[in-house]
Amino acid sequence: MPALTRLADALLDRAVVPGYSKLGPALRRRWWPSGPVPGALIGKRVLVTGATSGIGTAIAEGALTLGATVHVLGRNRAKTEDLVARLERERPGATLVAEVCDVGDLDAVRAWAADFTGRVDELHGLVHNAGALPAERSETAQGHELTLAVHVLGPHLMTALLADTLAPGAAVVWMSSGGMYGAGLRDDDLEFTDGEYSGVRAYARTKRMQVVLAAEWAGRLPGKHVYSTHPGWVATDGVTASIPGFGKVMAPLLRTPEDGADTTVWLLATRPASRSPHFWHDRAQRPSTLGWERGQDPAKVRRFLDQVAAATDVPG
Ligand SMILES: NC(=O)c1ccc[n+]([C@@H]2O[C@H](COP(=O)([O-])OP(=O)(O)OC[C@H]3O[C@@H](n4cnc5c(N)ncnc54)[C@H](OP(=O)(O)O)[C@@H]3O)[C@@H](O)[C@H]2O)c1
Repeated sequence: MPALTRLADALLDRAVVPGYSKLGPALRRRWWPSGPVPGALIGKRVLVTGATSGIGTAIAEGALTLGATVHVLGRNRAKTEDLVARLERERPGATLVAEVCDVGDLDAVRAWAADFTGRVDELHGLVHNAGALPAERSETAQGHELTLAVHVLGPHLMTALLADTLAPGAAVVWMSSGGMYGAGLRDDDLEFTDGEYSGVRAYARTKRMQVVLAAEWAGRLPGKHVYSTHPGWVATDGVTASIPGFGKVMAPLLRTPEDGADTTVWLLATRPASRSPHFWHDRAQRPSTLGWERGQDPAKVRRFLDQVAAATDVPG
């Protein structure tokens, strides 16, 4: 990319509103890397969590368009099977598999993974897309705060349990959020029991944790590609339900789910070389921290990872 284009791209990113809105991909499409080539995922098997809505459905559709067999994972059986039936109807010849699992329930993740690895020999793409921004603090069956369980503990456990099923060169993508820029990594109070609960804060903090975990998994999975990404601001049911004010004010500027899914589908299909911390947006690597918090304190990261290991029984 020429230097001036690189500068324009970086300015869009730092200015946040234009870059995260639908203007981001509208402009960057002129210079971002091409691809994927048609049929890039033929013969590949991709699993997408949180596939029953918004960006997850668009990722599943993007992978299907490129020829993948897509396992769509939802927590609600009827909704997941309805999605599979609709996509099969709309795309004759497409190969889809409904997977039912509550990603925030660690026992459910263990049971589902045991079943999945008994049925599937090789997985080429794993997308941790399921997400939630709750209004109130709630706990999962194992007593973990919901956003910690859905964004961090469940995906961490799932990655560990599927690690041996990941094919050489497979891609693992963690769907984080630009909201994580406002939250440093915390190695205390992972369960959000101190002070008044804020779903927005819990969301941002656990989205930060996803970026740190993705970088950790990149080191733990040699020969595989592990990325984190953020989709920009996307018009989805999740935004309407969780942050209706934002959804209403920003409506004219929100991206389509397809634009929100673009970089994830591109990462799955092209598997570009990446350097730590492996954070991507609009088909380019982006800094994972803003000026005031360059990099991560390794001791803090270690303490965070130790707590995730203890909660999931996945050795750190
Ligand atoms: N939209 C945005 O502007 C935006 C911005 C930054 C990051 N993101 C991230 O992008 C991802 C998708 O967001 P979205 O806007 O498409 O949200 P959405 O429309 O609310 O979709 C979220 C998906 O996650 C699923 N899910 C939630 N909890 C789950 C659980 N415990 N187990 C399994 N699946 C679960 C939901 O299932 P149900 O269908 O059963 O509810 C749904 O399929 C999230 O990780 C979100 O944080 C979105």
